[in-house]
Amino acid sequence: MSELNAALEHPTYNYKVVRQFAIMTVVWGIVGMLVGVLIAAQLAWPQLNPGLEWLHFGRLRPLHTNAVIFAFGGCALFATSFYVVQRTCQTRLISDKLAAAVFWGWQLVIVAAAITLPLGLTTSKEYAELEWPIDILITVIWVLYAIVFFGTIAKRKVHHIYVANWFYGAFIIAVAILHILNSMEVPVSLTKSYSVYSGTVDAMVQWWYGHNAVGFFLTAGFLGMMYYFVPKQAERPVYSYRLSIVHFWALVAVYIWAGPHHLHYTALPDWAQSLGMVMSLILLAPSWGGMINGIMTLSGAWHKLRTDPILRFLVVSLSFYGMSTFEGPMMSIKTVNALSHYTDWTIGHVHSGALGWVAMISIGSMYHLIPILFNKERMYSVDLINVHFWMSTIGTVLYIASMWVNGIMQGLMWRAYNQDGTLTYSFVESVAASYPGYVVRVLGGGIFFAGMLVMAYNVYMTTRRDVAAQPVAAASAA
Ligand code: HEM
Ligand code: HEM
Repeated sequence: MSELNAALEHPTYNYKVVRQFAIMTVVWGIVGMLVGVLIAAQLAWPQLNPGLEWLHFGRLRPLHTNAVIFAFGGCALFATSFYVVQRTCQTRLISDKLAAAVFWGWQLVIVAAAITLPLGLTTSKEYAELEWPIDILITVIWVLYAIVFFGTIAKRKVHHIYVANWFYGAFIIAVAILHILNSMEVPVSLTKSYSVYSGTVDAMVQWWYGHNAVGFFLTAGFLGMMYYFVPKQAERPVYSYRLSIVHFWALVAVYIWAGPHHLHYTALPDWAQSLGMVMSLILLAPSWGGMINGIMTLSGAWHKLRTDPILRFLVVSLSFYGMSTFEGPMMSIKTVNALSHYTDWTIGHVHSGALGWVAMISIGSMYHLIPILFNKERMYSVDLINVHFWMSTIGTVLYIASMWVNGIMQGLMWRAYNQDGTLTYSFVESVAASYPGYVVRVLGGGIFFAGMLVMAYNVYMTTRRDVAAQPVAAASAA
């Protein structure tokens, strides 16, 4: 193994940590999505909830969200940010030891989450379920990550800071602030704590965190990925550098205010709800600024889509990004939210962002990165990348279309009244009517998940097979 590492070591850059994170992206993607398919099946067929409480929907759901967001998405962000910051600053990470500590520490967090969540140990705050000892571990690792990332930027050999690093930097700073403020809690034992906030303030802090986890973890970081890998794969410069800077500042300035759209028609003061709604509507502009900048980068390179499935992954992910950031502002309008909230429409919106945008941009970037990291000319099979592309696209479309149908149907059924003022449908009738949609979601999710297995095979064969080696520097010149 050490011989293999020595053979793959790059003279200038630390590729080892990037390789480790890249492989774990695939591994955690498979694990997280497998749990996703399982809970989707539990919603369709409740008898799949066994007697054992560890495997119940309620325990596995946070396991799914944590695994896909923080393990799969997180590893993709660590891998690409460590790669991009080195290539664009033309310098090695400031410390190999700290980088290794970030890798092993993050894996420890993931394993701790995978054990504690099924055991039912949770703060009960969505996307911030992990208990206080793990929260502290996350904080330490995040600080190390920030030191490595910004330290590398500080010793860069080029004058300017490439825009991808701006997005990664904003993601690192914002996530640190969000995590620390939302996780303020009073421990009462090793495995239980209570939030320092109470009532409506607790809800507001939680959704300020929750929405910005979307804005900075699931968006800004992945836009950083987009700004490096789309131009690289298309072999074209970014369409507009000016637009990238303008939409960067607009995005970070506006996102932070939009959280109250998660709390419409609650005890939160009405003005705060309206402010959240207005800010969410404004958010359409900077979001589409990024989407347009990414897609227009293909100007003059559109023909490559015919032959390059990696580029297809990247471009289709941008289309889903555009779709979900159009849908989000619409759903934040209070009258629309009165219908969509509590329904599967929200779940459809989540996964058009999560599968269509986050997962597909990560997968495309990994296909670009993995041959370079393993000193291979290309992936083992381009045809299999193409198969994976179609499985991901079809899987996503089946998932989100079924949830839109379910969501709108549920919303309409719940608000239908008879002339005498009684409800037309009981809740159970709406659950029964949702059954076909749930089955289609299992199918779509299953196809998306199977695509990840195809990827794992392709990655494995790429690392094994002797695809004509070429000098790493030539393959990956920044
Ligand atoms: C095979 C792929 C996937 C399947 C089958 C799947 C399935 C599910 C299911 C069944 C739920 C629970 C829905 C409910 O409670 O009604 C869920 C929730 C969620 N999933 Fe996935 N998922 C997949 C991939 C992903 C990915 C890749 C991400 C993120 C990158 C993601 C993020 C989320 C989030 C954030 C929620 C919570 C949504 C909310 O509370 O509104 N999922 N998923
Ligand atoms: C301009 C951008 C966006 C806006 C304004 C927006 C707005 C919204 C709104 C109004 C909701 C429903 C809140 C509710 O009724 O409870 C929602 C839920 C959600 N959105 Fe978005 N969205 C945007 C983009 C995205 C993207 C790109 C992603 C994923 C990558 C995403 C992930 C989520 C998640 C995970 C939830 C569910 C939160 C929960 O209840 O657990 N959103 N969003």
